Amino acid sequence: MKKCILLSMDNLDDFECYDSQVIAPLEQLGWRATEVSWRDQTVNWDEYQAVIVRSTWDYQLDYDAFLNVLTKIEESSSLLVNPIELIKWNISKTYLRELEKRGVLIVPTIWGNSYSFAMADEGFEKFNSQHLIIKPCISAGSHDTFQLTDKTPESEHQKYSKLFHKRPFLLQPFMPNILSEGEYSMFYFNGAFSHAILKTPATGDFRVQEEFGGRLSKIEPKQSLFEAAEKALQAIDFPTLYSRLDFVRVDNEFALMEAELIEPSLYFNLDEQSPTRFANAFVDYFNQHAN
Ligand SMILES: Nc1ncnc2c1ncn2[C@@H]1O[C@H](COP(=O)(O)OP(=O)(O)O)[C@@H](O)[C@H]1O
Ligand SMILES: [Mg+2]
Repeated sequence: MKKCILLSMDNLDDFECYDSQVIAPLEQLGWRATEVSWRDQTVNWDEYQAVIVRSTWDYQLDYDAFLNVLTKIEESSSLLVNPIELIKWNISKTYLRELEKRGVLIVPTIWGNSYSFAMADEGFEKFNSQHLIIKPCISAGSHDTFQLTDKTPESEHQKYSKLFHKRPFLLQPFMPNILSEGEYSMFYFNGAFSHAILKTPATGDFRVQEEFGGRLSKIEPKQSLFEAAEKALQAIDFPTLYSRLDFVRVDNEFALMEAELIEPSLYFNLDEQSPTRFANAFVDYFNQHAN
């Protein structure tokens, strides 16, 4: 039996995690998979042929420590999946600028480094909308993500000025389809489509994550969504065992909200075959990339 780690975190109590669903299909393919926290100092990475980054959802609180662990894994004889160069590239949403240059439609964005009230005005004007979103370049799970409108009180602007003082952020028009329709996620394993879901926020919220009451369902994507996802995937210059591409519809097109390539939930619970597809893709990926 070969051995691999599904890299996780110390305490998953506040999260919905489905990684254990890949353990049985991996076993069938001759791989024993163990869930291990990235903070576990006792692991000898050399004892495992591969480490798959999965549910490390607290790393943005401690990015340097996380990167140190990944560097150690990279330096060990174990294969780190997805690759560290990709993880470093994907950590900041500034990668969206590069994808945009390569022809990918993204949500319109003003890129800022320090927030001030004047920027909200700039956003209202540029996007011709009085309803904006501000969010950090380095984030996950809707952390520090807020709505801004022409009614936002001065005290809130002051809060954002503090939160986004010398902290790179994105200012975007609020995409109404997030509320009326939801956010689409397309999952690709080793470059091949696996499944797709639609995430709809709870009434009164705009965040689609399950942790905030978002509702999730499996969908059959339209051709135009496939085209948008495949264009985005081709613009990503790295091999990926897993990619989750999140889209919001704008008129009849799909704009990329983000490409989740570090530790996306892959929602194995919503597609019965997806754990098996993942396991097969992993074995192919390993055979292609292990030296
Ligand atoms: N421009 C936007 N318009 C409407 N909702 C947004 C917008 N940007 C983000 N959101 C909401 O906030 C959530 C988190 O933003 P996202 O860019 O996906 O960052 P992350 O998932 O890394 O926190 C999205 O899933 C969506 O529900
Ligand atoms: Mg997201």
